[in-house]
Amino acid sequence: MKKHKPLIALSLLLTAIIIYSCKTHFETTKTDFKVTKSGEAFDRGKVLVFSSCEGCHYNRGVHKFIGNKIDDVPGIAGAVYSANLTQSKTHGIPPRYSDAELKYLLKTGIAKDGRFVGYMLRPNMADDDINDIIVFLRSNDPSVAAADTTVGLTHYSMIGKMYMGMNAKPLPYTTGIKRPTDPVALGAYLVDNLGCFHCHSKSLTSVNYINPNQSPGYLAGGAKLNGAQGVKIAASNITPDKNTGIGNYTQQQFRKAIKEGEAPDRKLHPPMPKLDMLSDGEVDAIYAYLQTVPAVENKVEKH
Ligand code: HEC
Ligand code: HEC
Repeated sequence: MKKHKPLIALSLLLTAIIIYSCKTHFETTKTDFKVTKSGEAFDRGKVLVFSSCEGCHYNRGVHKFIGNKIDDVPGIAGAVYSANLTQSKTHGIPPRYSDAELKYLLKTGIAKDGRFVGYMLRPNMADDDINDIIVFLRSNDPSVAAADTTVGLTHYSMIGKMYMGMNAKPLPYTTGIKRPTDPVALGAYLVDNLGCFHCHSKSLTSVNYINPNQSPGYLAGGAKLNGAQGVKIAASNITPDKNTGIGNYTQQQFRKAIKEGEAPDRKLHPPMPKLDMLSDGEVDAIYAYLQTVPAVENKVEKH
């Protein structure tokens, strides 16, 4: 018995570490906030939801926001499904949330039930944009009309739970943010809030949500992402490097790449989204901002 003592102590220690690292419940908000509805809020909300939630929540089979399986999560961690964002009282999430709780979730990652849901953190999003997203989610647009169905329910393996526990880092709740109007600042804002830098930096798991440009390999590409039918596609280097980045793009070519998915030398593959709802002004602002980031030489294999 005696010689097993160190082993028992070690397993107790490991259990303690696991329990400690699995803190996955946090306090949600008690604030009261109600969205301001208007026709413009709906229109802008639609653009934002289709440009920044679509990739994970929009189901292209049924043309509704009923959710999808998230393939970028390795099977060993479990299976992750994005939620049903329709008005369904039985399966949709927004009807179960107050406006304040939705805003809090998007800013901090803390769900209504206290779980940390760290897939769609938007700590720097302007108050007006969050308002408009919520207005759209509560509208009768066909894409969010009630669909009483579920694609699957998230379940994590032990390994997935430990990983989530160790990485459950809710972000601070900051409000009072305004959408910039200066083109370069607006471009930086969009690269942040449309999530371009999540895919286009070194890795999806090492992005810095609060200070995007401090993410390792910021915008220099190379992350291998799941494309259609499980094919791995490396995200492009979108810094202004002439040889390995997008330094030779004209503004027109950039518009075509972003809105139509056509790069000068090829058709772009998913998961690069087709952002056809953005205005030319917004795309040009992104272009203007991308000219200002440091050029990084990083050759990424093209598919
Ligand atoms: C990178 C993928 C991704 C993006 C982009 C994304 N989500 Fe999600 N979202 C998820 C996943 C995955 C879950 C479910 C996680 C789980 O079940 O633990 C989820 C869950 C949710 C939930 C439900 C939370 C709950 O209580 O279960 C809401 C509401 C939500 N997302 C809203 C949004 C909105 C609004 C946007 C756009 C601003 C957005 N999401 C963008 C992946 C994403
Ligand atoms: C979900 C991940 C994802 C998001 C979000 C994303 N991209 Fe991409 N992007 C990719 C991938 C992957 C490719 C490479 C596609 C290919 O090679 O076929 C790509 C390619 C590109 C290209 C083509 C560059 C070249 O190789 O010539 C540009 C430009 C681009 N993205 C800009 C953006 C901008 C700007 C945003 C934000 C508005 C954005 N991307 C958001 C994944 C993403």
